[in-house]
Amino acid sequence: SSEDFYLEYQGLLLPRETHCTESLKFAQEFIFNDDDVVAVTYPKSGTTWMQEILPLVLNGGDLTPVHTVVNWDRVPWLEETRLAKIVDKLPSPRALVTHFHYSLMPPSFHTSKARVIYVMRNPKDVMVSSYYFHQMANFLEDPGTFDEFMEKFLEGRVLFGKWTDHVKSWRHAELGDRILFITYEEMVQDLSASIKRMSDFLCCDLSKDVIQKIAEHCSFRSMKANIMSNFSLVPKEYMDNEKSPFLRKGIAGDWKNHFSSDQLARFKSVINRELEGEKFPLP
Ligand code: PPS
Repeated sequence: SSEDFYLEYQGLLLPRETHCTESLKFAQEFIFNDDDVVAVTYPKSGTTWMQEILPLVLNGGDLTPVHTVVNWDRVPWLEETRLAKIVDKLPSPRALVTHFHYSLMPPSFHTSKARVIYVMRNPKDVMVSSYYFHQMANFLEDPGTFDEFMEKFLEGRVLFGKWTDHVKSWRHAELGDRILFITYEEMVQDLSASIKRMSDFLCCDLSKDVIQKIAEHCSFRSMKANIMSNFSLVPKEYMDNEKSPFLRKGIAGDWKNHFSSDQLARFKSVINRELEGEKFPLP
C-alpha cells in the first residue's frame, strides 16, 4: 500500500526512502544564513539542474565540486535525511534545494535574508517526467497507467501534493527581491541567458566567458555524462536507470507525445480552475 512507500507530513506524501520524522524536524530547526541560496522546485521541475548550476554560479565557474561531489551532497535537500550528515561540510555561501511549499519553510528562513530561486515547469511535462520516474525509482509506488497516474497527480495524491498548491504558495509569498522566478522552459530555450539572470540576482558578477562555460557544463548532454549528477551511482535496486534514465529527455513539450486529446482537456480544466484569478504567467 502507499503507506509502505510514503510518509504523510502536513497533508503531503513524502518518500520514506529519503525522508523521516527526524529529517523533517531537522529541517524545521535548520538555521538559515543570510547568504544561503535555496532553489525551490516542485518535483521533476529542474532540481538536479539547479544542483549543477548553483555551485558553479556561486564559485565563479570552478568545476571541482561538480566533478567530485555527488549532486545530493553538493546541494542537499532541506527536508531529506542526508542533510544532517553533510551540513557541516558545505562550502560558503551554501546552496540548498527544497520541494517544500512556502508554508513548510522553517522559522529561521523568514527572519534570514536567504535568497530563493523558484523554478517552475509546465505541469504536463512535470507529470510525464514524474510518470517515468515512478517506473524507475523502486522506492516509489508503481504509477499504474498514464490515465491513473494523471488522476493521482491532479488530486495531489503524489509526492509533495498538488502542483498548483506548490506554485501558488511560492507565488503568493511576499519575499520581494529575495526571490527570482525562472522557468524550466526558459532554461531549455537559452541556458546562458538564464544563468546570467541567476548570477545577476545573486550579485555574482560573472563574465560572459564564465557564463558560457557554465552553460556548456550544465547542458543536458554534459550532465547525462557526469556520474556525479546522473544518479548512476545510486544502486540499481533503488533507481533503475536502464528502465528509464533519471536524466531522461530534458526537453520542453514531451507531453505532446503522451497526452490524448481527452486527457489534455481534463488536465486543462482542472489546472485552469485551480489557477483561476492568478496573475502569474504559466510555462
Ligand atoms: S527530482 O526528482 O525532483 O530531483 O527531479 P528534477 O531534477 O527536478 O527533474 C528531473 C527532470 O529534469 C531534467 N533535467 C534536465 N533537462 C534539461 N537540461 C538539463 N541539464 C537537465 N538536468 C535535468 C531531467 O531530464 C528530468 O526531466 P525529463 O523530462 O524526465 O527528462
